[in-house]
Amino acid sequence: MPNAVVEPLKPAEAGCEPLSYGSYLEVPGLLTLQRPRTSAHDEMLFIVTHQAIELWFRCVLHELEDVREALTDERFGQARRGLRRVMRIVALVLDHVDVLTTMTPAGFNEFRDVLGESSGFQSVQFRELEMLSGMRDRRYLNLPGATAAERERLQLRFQDPSLHDVFTRALERRGLTPQQLFAPDLLEDELRDTAEDLLEYDALFHRWRYQHWLLVVRALGTRPGSGGSSGSEFLRSTLDKWFFPELHDARSHVHAAPGEEPATGPQGESVYGCPMGHGSGLTG
Ligand code: HEM
Repeated sequence: MPNAVVEPLKPAEAGCEPLSYGSYLEVPGLLTLQRPRTSAHDEMLFIVTHQAIELWFRCVLHELEDVREALTDERFGQARRGLRRVMRIVALVLDHVDVLTTMTPAGFNEFRDVLGESSGFQSVQFRELEMLSGMRDRRYLNLPGATAAERERLQLRFQDPSLHDVFTRALERRGLTPQQLFAPDLLEDELRDTAEDLLEYDALFHRWRYQHWLLVVRALGTRPGSGGSSGSEFLRSTLDKWFFPELHDARSHVHAAPGEEPATGPQGESVYGCPMGHGSGLTG
């Protein structure tokens, strides 16, 4: 899958100068990429935080591709090691978002106008992450502001199997339903442990959504977003999104007493159903 990843440098391109810290990491070039458009003090923090998170998104995509391959080949140990790394990164990204809470609404207002209609909503890598994890929404294939190459990447992500797909296939190969996976007497420990890690990753990603929502409540209050949405209200609605809703639901069925059929609610749905109100209808 052609992520935004650039091919490794060929020896001729790399040049024959001995490498230094700065030349290997391309630090001089990197430091030309933060270009505030106003003299507002907080704009630098705003740019660096977004860029740092985009770099981590890139790394997460790289890792998740590996996790998907490992799950496809049923190398569950490898998949779990990759997921553990991904979770560390997502936890780190939560802290990046936290730094931005030091920006006051007044500080933000000093440069907000120059953002125009640009918004994190247009982050291509964020949509790639959602798709690779298991959430497909056609509407994001034509993200405003995306280049032709970025649209192509989104299209490929949309078609490619997601983590959700490959894990579901692993269950199907064993003839297991998600509910059976969490049954106390099941011997498929490896598969269940992997499911637990997938759920933990899902929960961490959800914390990102929550933390970002809180940040926006603090920075914007009830004002609309630069991307044209209602702002914090719109973001609150995204808190219903999960990558593995069936696994969350199945896990909560474990609370039924042994031998007891899960109780049903007025419409016949399980009252042990996911307490988190799933049902974006976007997964799969
Ligand atoms: C003061 C800081 C921030 C504010 C005020 C803010 C505001 C918003 C708003 C209002 C939206 C909804 C779309 C819109 O109408 O624009 C949004 C979406 C989004 N923002 Fe931020 N944001 C901030 C920081 C960040 C950071 C640091 C990132 C990291 C890359 C980020 C990534 C995103 C993403 C990925 C979405 C889409 C979420 C979704 O559709 O589920 N934002 N942001």
